[in-house]
Amino acid sequence: MYETKLRTHTCGELKKSSDGQNVVLAGWVKKKRDHGEIVFIDLRDRYGVTQVIIEKERRDLKEQVKNVRGEFVLQVSGKVRKRPLDMVNEEIATGEIEVVADKIEILNESEVPPFEIKDDLNVQEELRLKYRYLDLRRNTLKETIIARHKTIQSMRTFLSENGFLEIETPVLTRNTPEGARDYLVPSRNHIGKFYSMAQSPQLYKQLLMVAGFDRYYQFARCFRDEDMRSDRQPEFTQIDIEMSFVDEEDVYRITEGLMKKVFHDVISYELDTPFLRLTYKEAMERYGSDKPDLRYGCEINDITDIVKGSGFGVFENADFTFAYNTKQSLSRKQIDEYNDVAKKYGLPGLFYVKYTEGELKGSIVKYLGEISKEKLIERLDILSGNTIFIASGKWKRTLETLGACRRKTGNDFYIEGRGNEYNFLWITRFPMFEWNEDEEKWEPCHHIFTMPLDEDIKFIESDPGKVHGKLYDLVCNGVEISSGSIRAFKKDIQERIMNVIGLSNEEAEKRFGFLIEGFKYGAPPHGGIAPGLDRLIMIMLNRDNIRDVIAFPKSLQASGIMEDSPSEVDDRRLTELGLKLIKKKGS
Ligand code: AMO
Repeated sequence: MYETKLRTHTCGELKKSSDGQNVVLAGWVKKKRDHGEIVFIDLRDRYGVTQVIIEKERRDLKEQVKNVRGEFVLQVSGKVRKRPLDMVNEEIATGEIEVVADKIEILNESEVPPFEIKDDLNVQEELRLKYRYLDLRRNTLKETIIARHKTIQSMRTFLSENGFLEIETPVLTRNTPEGARDYLVPSRNHIGKFYSMAQSPQLYKQLLMVAGFDRYYQFARCFRDEDMRSDRQPEFTQIDIEMSFVDEEDVYRITEGLMKKVFHDVISYELDTPFLRLTYKEAMERYGSDKPDLRYGCEINDITDIVKGSGFGVFENADFTFAYNTKQSLSRKQIDEYNDVAKKYGLPGLFYVKYTEGELKGSIVKYLGEISKEKLIERLDILSGNTIFIASGKWKRTLETLGACRRKTGNDFYIEGRGNEYNFLWITRFPMFEWNEDEEKWEPCHHIFTMPLDEDIKFIESDPGKVHGKLYDLVCNGVEISSGSIRAFKKDIQERIMNVIGLSNEEAEKRFGFLIEGFKYGAPPHGGIAPGLDRLIMIMLNRDNIRDVIAFPKSLQASGIMEDSPSEVDDRRLTELGLKLIKKKGS
């Protein structure tokens, strides 16, 4: 590293071997301890903390630092001294030495910060977001930002070494097919028209394939006006990847290689590849989710065959009955919480059975004959004390409900403190289309430029529900890390897909005309994927919250609390853009 004018060393690098060296350090006061005769100052920078000592006879320096408090910025010149053995601080890298101050320069003062800069901090997130630059001085956040840098470096190296070119694409663009709400930017040059902030570089990366750049990547900023969640931000980063002349297997292999390298480089963790694969149907039927957390069991089982014929109306009338064993003994109150989850997912409630004193207990048990009870015990591996949840209804809703309940069981009993454990898996064979009951029409499950599986192409018109796409998601610990597909690069397939979802040629032309036009000039077979950088780092570092891995994140209300965005603009600016507000907050 280049030495700079204001310091010779960082606060994290001096060791026993530096004993006797004259050094100049610069940093923030972490703590000042005035013991009367001598004064200790812990000086902090990005690299660590060094103890500075002002000795008894240096009255001048003591006078000089009289008013120095935490977070003042100091430059300290002095001599490194080995600490006596009994004074060694093993908790910090520089714990074997101290710097005896010879000269101190107060480079800047600091007001008393609104919270203490320390790791185990218990203050409201809103305050931390307002003073994010102070929050970022804390190790916990600083480390995630450094890990983020390392992740980006590691990925760039991997992709570059594998022949990928880094190419930027526009942020100010028009609607892309990801399907979230766009952020719109009014145009001053074209009054009444708006740019859409890119939800992803999807269409551009496909056109780069048409252009012949057969391996592309980009750390792409994406913008989506969605409701926030702990793993969602309105602006986030994708490692957007696209390749020509590939099939799914190639995308899996490259992505697995990328993940393996990043985990090795950033956290020295060796991932096992290839990753497990589950089809969408398997994932749903076993875990009630298309992004299952495999760190714990509690698998869902289809018990329709066991309960049909029991005479109980709910079971008789339902398409399916599924169940899972929590492997826990839950109280009445805990069971009620699960009922609340079920209601949120649109089921009237759940049934439960408990196995105690050698028999199954619960409101539905009376409908089950001895053989059914035995089958249930065997299929769900029921042991004494176990509580089992049962739900009936349509395939998707019932499974999703039990999936949400299973997640709750996982969060309540199985995940806490699991540390570095990464269960990566691919979810494959997603359906291409989903029937929207309310609007009575087929909708695309992913985006419309996805290639159906070869063997399903024949069903596009006759039975769209049977068509699977060359679609894949990469999931880790219950979070969707990436998603991608092999693209429908041929005009006839695209048109057939658009017909199913009722998108007219004119509408398609209006929305994606430039892509469709580009595809006329020799589009190669291509496909890609886009791992979400923020989510990946969040999972890798075991953080629960995506905001912890972003330097300046938005709050849950999508606000920039520090800079106070979004903000009002004055009327003159609106007029210039041809806009007039019809409603202001509170009006
Ligand atoms: P998709 O919309 O599934 O696919 O996004 C890909 C990945 O981006 C991350 N992600 C997000 N991260 C944080 N906040 C958000 N609001 C957010 N939304 C998505 C997730 C997700 O898996 N163009 C396609 C990719 C392709 O087909 O190549 C796309 O954007 O980790």
